[in-house]
Amino acid sequence: MSSQQQTLPIPYLRLHNEFNALRAEWMEMIGEIGLSGAFILGPNVRQFEQEVTTYLGCTHAVSVANGTDAIELSLRALGIGPGDKVITSPFTFFATAEAISKVGATPVFADIDPDSFTLDPVSVKSKIDRDVKAILPVHIFGHPADMGVLSSIAGEHGLHVIEDGAQAFGAIQGGKYAGAHGQCGCFSFYPTKVLGCYGDGGLITTDSDQVRDRLLRLRNHGASSPFMHDELGYNSRLDEIQAALLRIKLRKIEQDIAARIRVADLYDEQLGDLPLRRPSRPGNGRHVFNLYTIRHPRRDMLRAALKEANIGHSQCYPLGLHLQAVYSHLGYQPGDLPVTDLLCGETLSLPIFPDMHEEEIERVSEVIKRLG
Ligand SMILES: Cc1ncc(COP(=O)(O)O)c(C=O)c1O
Repeated sequence: MSSQQQTLPIPYLRLHNEFNALRAEWMEMIGEIGLSGAFILGPNVRQFEQEVTTYLGCTHAVSVANGTDAIELSLRALGIGPGDKVITSPFTFFATAEAISKVGATPVFADIDPDSFTLDPVSVKSKIDRDVKAILPVHIFGHPADMGVLSSIAGEHGLHVIEDGAQAFGAIQGGKYAGAHGQCGCFSFYPTKVLGCYGDGGLITTDSDQVRDRLLRLRNHGASSPFMHDELGYNSRLDEIQAALLRIKLRKIEQDIAARIRVADLYDEQLGDLPLRRPSRPGNGRHVFNLYTIRHPRRDMLRAALKEANIGHSQCYPLGLHLQAVYSHLGYQPGDLPVTDLLCGETLSLPIFPDMHEEEIERVSEVIKRLG
């Protein structure tokens, strides 16, 4: 490695090579969209939805404006609202719980597993009471939640399952894709995601015709046919230009996931002997490594060292959602969810993207090794 290479910044995420590789095809599609005048809910949106159902093995896919809406509309489509409770993870991006609150329901936070960082089924069970209507597992960082066990708990108690797969497009558990286990599977196509567009986008999967019909209405102002409104809905639609890009990217999703797994494998090799916890891999499935998040006992020193070396990183997540100011009225205290509290003090996400070079992975690893 030359001394110049050693000082070049390593970004947390790099997108421009990918953009360059697909720009000609996308620009051509944008040209066609422009000439057709069909910018909203046009043929690319319909074809993308169809292609997602084929890839994920689910019956329906309904695209929406973003991943937050995907969760909110799913909750509404399943009839969850004021007075209901939904059990979810406190170790996730805020949008997961925000969507629950926005439909008027109350998030109930269960603790997580210290290795997979996903919902701990034992903790979930302990939170069930008669007001709980659904479990909302999050496939955090691309690691699938324990859907076999969570689905059977939900089945025993008559609860809905809504999967937050925002970070986990292509993750697999028990032979099924994330998003194909529950009544609804929610995805975000925010640019940083495994399947990301160059703007905002989201999608819901479902096997139910009835839920699909309700979602189609909800995303379009509650309209059952043009200018006929059955209920209050949303303006939450994926646009044609993003759908066209997503169609191109879906065709190479397996390549992208394989490249992410390769980066994770190389990190694992480099970091193998150090006193830190590397991401766990599901025994019966596939982690898609939207993020490569380690647990380090001296996390804050590591952050400072990476910053000093010009290496991008992110502290996902510094504070559990149960302890956020907005949820102080729910009465959680530090120590109520001890695994989440511990992880918030130890986790750090390292740079990972499909075209990350081996030398870059080595340089990140060297900084971590120097800390011992
Ligand atoms: C776990 C999780 N859920 C939901 C969302 C919300 O997605 P969006 O930003 O597309 O609304 C995100 C996005 O970061 C996320 O990471």
